[in-house]
Amino acid sequence: MRYLVTPALPYANAHLHLGHLVEHVQVNTFVRALRMAGEDVMYVCGADSHGTPVEIAAQKAGLPPEQYVKNWQKIYEDTFKQFSIEFDNGFGSTHTESNKKHAEQIFNKLNEAGHITTREIDQLFDPKANRFLPDRLIKGQCPKCNAEDQYGDSCEKCGSTYRPTELINPVSTLSGEKPVLKSSKHYFFELSHYAEKLKKWTQTPGVIQHEIQNSLQAWFKEGLRDWDISRDAPYFGFLIPGEKDKYFYVWLDAPIGYISLSDLAGGLDRWNDPDTKIVHFIGKDITYFHTLFWPAMLMGAGFTLPSQIAIHGMLTINGEKMSKSRGTFISAKRYAKHLSPEALRYYFACKLSNSIEDIDLSFEDFTARVNADLVNKVINLISRTVPLLHRNYEGKPSKLNADIVSQVSKLAHKIEPLYRALDTAQVVREVVHIADIANKYLQDNAPWDKNKNTPEQAHEQLSTALWAGKVCIGLLKPIIPNIASQAESILKLKPLDFKNLTNPLDTNQALEKYQHLFQRIDPKKITAMLNDTPAPQKDNSHISINDFVKVDLRAAKVIEAKDVENSNKLISVTLDVGPLGKRHVFSGLKPHIKPEELVGKMVILVANLAPRKMKFGLSEGMILASADTEDTPSLIHASKQAKPGDKVT
Ligand code: 2FM
Ligand code: ZN
Repeated sequence: MRYLVTPALPYANAHLHLGHLVEHVQVNTFVRALRMAGEDVMYVCGADSHGTPVEIAAQKAGLPPEQYVKNWQKIYEDTFKQFSIEFDNGFGSTHTESNKKHAEQIFNKLNEAGHITTREIDQLFDPKANRFLPDRLIKGQCPKCNAEDQYGDSCEKCGSTYRPTELINPVSTLSGEKPVLKSSKHYFFELSHYAEKLKKWTQTPGVIQHEIQNSLQAWFKEGLRDWDISRDAPYFGFLIPGEKDKYFYVWLDAPIGYISLSDLAGGLDRWNDPDTKIVHFIGKDITYFHTLFWPAMLMGAGFTLPSQIAIHGMLTINGEKMSKSRGTFISAKRYAKHLSPEALRYYFACKLSNSIEDIDLSFEDFTARVNADLVNKVINLISRTVPLLHRNYEGKPSKLNADIVSQVSKLAHKIEPLYRALDTAQVVREVVHIADIANKYLQDNAPWDKNKNTPEQAHEQLSTALWAGKVCIGLLKPIIPNIASQAESILKLKPLDFKNLTNPLDTNQALEKYQHLFQRIDPKKITAMLNDTPAPQKDNSHISINDFVKVDLRAAKVIEAKDVENSNKLISVTLDVGPLGKRHVFSGLKPHIKPEELVGKMVILVANLAPRKMKFGLSEGMILASADTEDTPSLIHASKQAKPGDKVT
């Protein structure tokens, strides 16, 4: 059996964050475990490079989209390396000749077989930005469950997918305008042609987790809609064969990236081989694409179908959704600047199993698990014994205690199947259990106590505990590859794998001197990371009108202004913003104006600034001031005729 394993392809337009890492730790651990078991695994990933959000972000950055996505590709590759994640043939992209070729071939096959149709459709168009609006740039209420603030393609609350025109009260997030309907020709993939085959495939045991079967059944019951696979110019993507201003929708060529990335890594044959297991890892938010659209495309084009779609839940931090305003939207880079990547791998592994439940990162729990289990139990078996073996036995291990060896070996054999079943939470529990057995043995015998043991007995006890530590580290190697490789060098071992990890230690060879394997988590570093929110970018480049119109400026009347004690900058201000109601803000004007002078003034308020939690309370906006230099700001007054709540344009 051979394998082809993929994580989802991250969009090339923002830093990787801890949410991405949940998936990548899961996949990387799986791949490492399979390879440790001797399997032939191809492992590919790359940037999902196309689509309007990427195009618009490139425009804002003042770069051609090709260059823009290349820059991200490099950043992603470096970031992944920090977490010991490296792909076959490097971190690729969907914007390649190879992907274009495969996308065209698959499209042509589907087209020739009669699965593609075209028709005119009415679509939402932003008259101000002069472009059709992609689903993700429209927000409104979900037509199924009425949830507010949902994107135009699918609902994060109830998981249903729909057309953007079905959204209730849509607005363009580009301009804030209400979009208008405009007609144009679109290409559709007739998903319903594959309904029966898809039903059968999705019910094949092991392909999709049980928890997802319910949503699938509901989708089948509703009937599979044809899928709009084209987008009008302007668009960053591949032109549809025979068209001049119509492109493949990014979601058509993104999964085809799995094929082209394998092709570029020399593994195209894995897509045409009954003895290859294809395993896609995804978050539950993109289930529909991977359990229906993608396999139908593969069916139509005659490729091997995935053996498994492994779906994981979303990351929450301290029980809540990651949030920029709470400072918990933590980029992978920010994390790695303060804390050990290996610790995060360990923690995520503790939390992951083959389940779609959300995964919570609680920093307290994180510290406890890493320090109490990984350091005090597992690593302790090595850090405690190696120095004593050096002190008293020239650094050489002896024969081992047969009883402990048999107990530990039995447990160790349970681990490889757990990795294959994606149950790393259970892997960690079992390994900690092994470490508990060995630590108890060490504690009970106290080989450091000369009154209790002969030198030979103590030698055996130290060696046995060290051996158990080696087994534990070997078993955790897919999760903590760096710690494992440092341990391999201290113990002078060949790379550990599932076959050799229970081998006895070489009694003729002295170990290296112990070197620190891991630094305990210092809670101060967590605080430092949480406070290390990115500084506002100093950027003198132009902003587009679309950026500017996003700022909601309002005339507002100061109804109350109070000194904030213990602050030499802030005044607490209550404003009347007419139809928007009362707002409370902290303004940094204390050195320049007395609170009582502010009362009654008509000022200009940035009304849609995200509320910010400050030391003294919540600030719900910002009052504008002008300044020659930072030292002499003065208020900008709205005109005398302005009424509270008037828009400033
Ligand atoms: O949801 C996302 O982040 C997409 N970029 C995932 C694409 S996965 C595959 F289809 F390429
Ligand atoms: Zn909904």
